Amino acid sequence: MNNTRDQWSSRLGFILAAAGSAIGLGAVWKLPYVTGTSGGGAFFLIFLFFTLVLGTSLLLAEFAVGRKTQKPPVEAYKELAPGTAWHWLGILGIISSCLILSFYAVVGGWIITYFVRSLSGSLTDPASGNHEDLFGSIISNPWEVGISHLAFIIVTIIVVQGGIQKGIERASSIMMPALFLIFLILVIRSLTLDGAMEGVTFFLQPDFSAVSGDTILFALGQAFFSLSLGVSIMVTYSSYLSKKDNLVRSASSIVGLSILIALLSGLAIFPGVFAFGLEPNEGPSLIFTVLPAVFSEMAFGAVFLSLFLLLLLFATLTSAFSLLEIVVSSVAGNSPGRRKAAAWIAGISIFILGIPSNLSFGLLSEWLLFDKIFFDQIDYLVSNILLPLGALLISIFVPLKMNRAELQDELLRGSSLGTSFFNTWFFIIRFVTPVAIIFAFLDVLGIW
Ligand code: PHE
Repeated sequence: MNNTRDQWSSRLGFILAAAGSAIGLGAVWKLPYVTGTSGGGAFFLIFLFFTLVLGTSLLLAEFAVGRKTQKPPVEAYKELAPGTAWHWLGILGIISSCLILSFYAVVGGWIITYFVRSLSGSLTDPASGNHEDLFGSIISNPWEVGISHLAFIIVTIIVVQGGIQKGIERASSIMMPALFLIFLILVIRSLTLDGAMEGVTFFLQPDFSAVSGDTILFALGQAFFSLSLGVSIMVTYSSYLSKKDNLVRSASSIVGLSILIALLSGLAIFPGVFAFGLEPNEGPSLIFTVLPAVFSEMAFGAVFLSLFLLLLLFATLTSAFSLLEIVVSSVAGNSPGRRKAAAWIAGISIFILGIPSNLSFGLLSEWLLFDKIFFDQIDYLVSNILLPLGALLISIFVPLKMNRAELQDELLRGSSLGTSFFNTWFFIIRFVTPVAIIFAFLDVLGIW
């Protein structure tokens, strides 16, 4: 049965799809802002360290599980640790992915709404009024954002039901190169504005006094989120890899591309914000209220804004594919017929699950759980609890339940790296990663 299983057609196809999963709202939206306000270059260096050392090690651990078993997560953990409860780690990944996609698709819907409006030029029209009010009225209108929320999910379903090679790989091979190209255009435009340097300074000048314990832990969580780790998505994607591929080389390309994009997004956003004397606001408003104001000031601003929103849409969609794929691969196995049904049923259920998140900016804005609106609560639960928990369990599982010689063979196949590389990786995954995550947890729980 396994020989009928879909596979990536090439290493590049896999890298683009996996980098597509990694590069999303985390790198393009959250990271630049937090970097700017949490010590600039100092924060970025810490994030870089976590990404390169802990993120890459976990990525390799997930790859080893997926490629070794060539099975979706629940089955994979079952095969490697038969008769134990470890398959719950796969179920945790599926639950976390559904939750992430439920609010991710809401933001995807906002991006679609903004993109459609930007095409008419109305967003950058000086007569369009206050951008903050506009954003507030758009996200609190259940119909407009409801329809684009649904549209975002439907595009995701259509791509994922097409399969690995004909669906996800094909779409990512168009969207990811387009994303890089648009980024380059925007960064060049942004860096050539008068006064651009102030933005670069805000983004990157290291200020170690702004770094606190919280910032360090945030950088850790961000490093995992930005590489889509801890939810077994990388187990799923690597299960479709050929046995010949060099895992270390693929992992390095994926990590390298995500870091590059995180840098480029800061360089695309902040120079414009400062060149036009605007305030770098936090969170959603940075993209949806500050940037339209920036582009309104610029020649051909409407075109640049549409390009930016298209880029953001591609980044968000390629992450959404991976979030739906883990569910679909888990329930549909190798059957193309069941894959279609699974994609639609899972996708629509996740849409429904996302409705309270969507409405939490309007109708349900008064409905607070632990002082947070529903959307923020789900984001918090996933980013601070479920995702680090998944990452911790994977870093315990791999050294405990996988045979060391087989792991070494899986990771070093096709590579010229030797045993010392493998031993270092094994040490990091066995000791350093779990300890770092446990500290982060104690902090989230307020114990440390
Ligand atoms: N990596 C994605 C981003 O940065 C989010 C994500 C997390 C996607 C976990 C899949 C799994 O936006």
